[in-house]
Amino acid sequence: MGPGPGLAAALLALLLPVPVPVSARGPGAAACEVSPGGRFDCGPERLLSRAGCEARGCCYSPGPGPRSGPGPPWCFFPRGYRSYRAENLTATESGFSARLRREAAAFLPAAVDELRLELALETPARLRFTLRDAARPRYEVPLATPRVHGRAPATLYGLQVSQEPFGLVVCRQRGGTVLLNTTVAPLFFTDQFLQISTSLPSRFISGLGEHLTPLFLDTAWTRVTLWNRDMAPAPHVNLYGSHPFYLVMEDDGSAHGVFLLNSNAMDVLLQPSPALTWRTTGGILDFYIFLGPDPKSVVRQYLDVVGFPFMPPYWGLGFHLCRWGYSSTDITRQVVANMTAARFPLDVQWNDLDYADAKRDFTFNKKSFRDYPEMVRDFHSRGLRYIMIVDAGISSSGPPGTYKPFDEGLRRGVFIRNATGQPLIGKVWPGPTAFPDFTNPETHEWWHDMVKDFHEQVPFDGMWLDMNEPSNFVEGSQDGCPNNNLEHPPYVPGVFGGRLQAGTICASSQQYLSSHYNLHSLYGLTEAIASHNALLRVRGKRPFIISRSTFAGHGRYAGHWTGDVGSDWQQLYYSIPEVLLFNLFGVPLVGADICGFLGDTSEELCVRWTQLGAFYPFMRNHNDHGTRPQEPFAFSPPAQAAMRNALRLRYSLLPFLYTLFHRALSAGQTVARPLFLEFPTDPNTWAVDRQLLWGGGLLITPVLEAGQTKVSGYFPAGTWYSLTGDSTIHSKGQWILLPVPLDTINVHVRAGHILPLQEPAFSTAQSRGKGMALVVALTPDGFARGELFWDDGESWETFERGDYTELLFLASSDAAVLSQLLRASAHLDGVLLEAVTVLGVTSPPRRVLANGAIVSDFSYRSDTQVLRVPVALPMWEQFVISWS
Ligand SMILES: *[C@@H]1O[C@H](CO)[C@@H](O)[C@H](O)[C@H]1NC(C)=O
Ligand SMILES: *[C@@H]1O[C@H](CO)[C@@H](O)[C@H](O)[C@H]1NC(C)=O
Ligand SMILES: *[C@@H]1O[C@H](CO)[C@@H](O)[C@H](O)[C@H]1NC(C)=O
Ligand SMILES: *[C@@H]1O[C@H](CO)[C@@H](O)[C@H](O)[C@H]1NC(C)=O
Repeated sequence: MGPGPGLAAALLALLLPVPVPVSARGPGAAACEVSPGGRFDCGPERLLSRAGCEARGCCYSPGPGPRSGPGPPWCFFPRGYRSYRAENLTATESGFSARLRREAAAFLPAAVDELRLELALETPARLRFTLRDAARPRYEVPLATPRVHGRAPATLYGLQVSQEPFGLVVCRQRGGTVLLNTTVAPLFFTDQFLQISTSLPSRFISGLGEHLTPLFLDTAWTRVTLWNRDMAPAPHVNLYGSHPFYLVMEDDGSAHGVFLLNSNAMDVLLQPSPALTWRTTGGILDFYIFLGPDPKSVVRQYLDVVGFPFMPPYWGLGFHLCRWGYSSTDITRQVVANMTAARFPLDVQWNDLDYADAKRDFTFNKKSFRDYPEMVRDFHSRGLRYIMIVDAGISSSGPPGTYKPFDEGLRRGVFIRNATGQPLIGKVWPGPTAFPDFTNPETHEWWHDMVKDFHEQVPFDGMWLDMNEPSNFVEGSQDGCPNNNLEHPPYVPGVFGGRLQAGTICASSQQYLSSHYNLHSLYGLTEAIASHNALLRVRGKRPFIISRSTFAGHGRYAGHWTGDVGSDWQQLYYSIPEVLLFNLFGVPLVGADICGFLGDTSEELCVRWTQLGAFYPFMRNHNDHGTRPQEPFAFSPPAQAAMRNALRLRYSLLPFLYTLFHRALSAGQTVARPLFLEFPTDPNTWAVDRQLLWGGGLLITPVLEAGQTKVSGYFPAGTWYSLTGDSTIHSKGQWILLPVPLDTINVHVRAGHILPLQEPAFSTAQSRGKGMALVVALTPDGFARGELFWDDGESWETFERGDYTELLFLASSDAAVLSQLLRASAHLDGVLLEAVTVLGVTSPPRRVLANGAIVSDFSYRSDTQVLRVPVALPMWEQFVISWS
């Protein structure tokens, strides 16, 4: 049956079945002629002998490579292997639907015989398709996604459906590049094993976090496992978060993205043909495809589905300092005093679990933290903010009546339940603990009440959510786990520890919405939502939350730090792709623990890490208990001077950084940005992950190895000015060797950009009132553009309420820089523009005017082509500075 004339634009074609001869002893030789890199594994759950393989109707061909482990599978599907057959393709209001009938034996239990396919042409660049059990509802991820009515009239994509075996092809209307072809391998849909494969148009694939990985993944037989896990970051293992989203760069610089909205434990397999296989252990197959066509648009289209990032308070972009082992208020106060004495900026002081009484949430040690509330108030009076850790597990072992969070939680039924319907008890820092079920609305109310009670005692400013994978020191629970198919599914993804319960709670424990088996990887996200809402109600200001565990959509509510990274150079490097990937995932407020968390840092490492860390969107130095101190004041005077430079550099750039966060909130942009997002048609940029951009205009080239005096960086074609104005690079798109004395990090402004800066101070409370400056990086034609978003820095929804100032800065070929007030509020009143630095002024000006008045003390250097104009102009009014 035809799909209806309305689909003509989408190029829908029905392909006829390809008959494949399958004999009793396996498929014909022709169907098995598959190049090794294009073989799809026919034994996903176990290794098969030749007989076992052929019994599945698959091809057996030993080698090349090992029988198990990475490499071409010895047992693989022949071409045209039967799985499902599509029938009754019908046009619907939003696209089309079909029935899929199972045609072949599924070799894993509980196969679903009939599926319902629904495909929606949601927008010109986005389509969604779902595969559900036609007979009964299954678990679906409770993430609110956009509701779309009708069908996009003209789309960037064309579609083909292969009827038997069923497969879907998505290609670009223009050029015809095939982005998705699920016909390459059979579809499986059983109760606990769902598999779908696709070809990839290129091997440049990024995403699929959270892992310790380069920015682009290796397609030479890589298995990527998603299942949130408390695990010190190491390559090839599942870490704290799950983001089942990938982005592929196509040969011509176009990009597309794919999001599988599924929260079950899964593997994603990459192979050299190139191709990708999703293997998930539950839920449904719910795919979004984003056609870009440029990579920035792909990210925005993804964020259209999962949500744009939240706006952090301005102070959240300052410097944060923490360590495990600040064992008293005296020590914590000393740290702040030492920072002040050594003249380092500091916005937020933190405490790890040291503050708590017997390591229990929402308590404090009445001896060592006796004056805890006063300490926090003292910090406030100095313009500092304060954050403490909150762990997911709630101590359950005290006698009734001694610990309100547990007593109340028990009474209100907020904890995850075990097989006998009682709170599942695991073990975390305080000993035995129960785990709040944040999918239950009552838990949100209880959590709010606990946050409120504690905040009434200790007026903290933000929350640090840890151990929320959730982490558990006993496997499953203190009573073990039942022996059932949720604990031991027929297919176990490559999770660290080999079992789903490893390091966490029983998969079959019960939550309000479903089993933990389905909801596990949402734990951190649901806790972040509860904490965000609680903080908003309690403080009435923009919430600031940093969480270890994350899932797609996390960035709407909270940021992320990259967990227990080691103090070594390798981890320093990996922090760049981690930060860039989380920006692609819509979690721009992200950073690694500066100087490393585990193990002793070294002075040189800590200096280089502080320099790079000054360009993490979230900048925190945090250290493990018992290791060498690594606060900036703990080092030699030259190291301190280098760190002070880095911190002052960050503080001076905060107006620019804050404006980038506004663009994330308002337009779904990234803050820290991989080069390929700005230069997609230059393939040299694609894999660059030892440098990063802030927005489109600032390129950071850090040192990532010991003992370096020079660092090599890639400079896409164009003009790049050092931020200090002392050197200029005219690049043809090339690698350039830059000097890097220990006190230097290379930062370049891209021609065409104007950055708003502000004089640094010891906290943002002070710096926000200081003088501002503009750095204007002219293109050879004399153009540049920039913007500033400004508000009170902490009120809720200032953008949504229109309570902000927005300025546009423009430089044009008639030798002038001007500002335009796009929106005005009182928040910028009193702030003066004090300096304008114009980079790339090719001929010496004779006269400089500011709002028509002559500026006599400007300076110009013909060697560097830098014009410096000292001014004192109200930032809240429009201005023009011109030279001739
Ligand atoms: C397809 O439609 C026909 C006629 O309406 C119906 O008999 C058949 O059951 C349908 N098949 C499926 C798989 O729904
Ligand atoms: C999709 O893959 C199948 C199986 O490999 C192949 O026969 C078919 O030509 C592909 N379709 C397109 C449009 O590339
Ligand atoms: C603060 O500085 C003093 C003097 O250098 C030092 O003795 C003390 O250990 C420092 N305190 C902390 C917590 O680092
Ligand atoms: C469930 O947890 C309770 C403690 O809350 C424990 O006594 C009971 O044995 C557990 N049941 C199972 C089946 O593990």
